[in-house]
Amino acid sequence: MARVRIASLAEIPPGQMFEYTDGDDRFLVCNVDGKLHAVDGTCPHRGGPLFHGALHGATLVCPWHAWEFDCRSGEYDYNPELRLETFRVEVEHGSVYLVIP
Ligand code: FES
Repeated sequence: MARVRIASLAEIPPGQMFEYTDGDDRFLVCNVDGKLHAVDGTCPHRGGPLFHGALHGATLVCPWHAWEFDCRSGEYDYNPELRLETFRVEVEHGSVYLVIP
């Protein structure tokens, strides 16, 4: 398990997303009403890059075919059993850390 500093808190203001990549792995951090949430950054449908989609409140919309996920839980809206993997994200002294298993 690794804890990685990915950004300053100022780089991810409310309503914004931030992408962190580690090799082929993409992670997406969303700021929903001042709280940060981290999910897998690759859409489980056909692999769309979720960072290039849209964030409406807590709803993350894939740019390729508009599948929608809850950024807090990772749940796909039509089938909650299909979900993006979620990751722990921590804020410390103005820095954002992602905990990667
Ligand atoms: S690749 Fe994301 S909805 Fe199709």
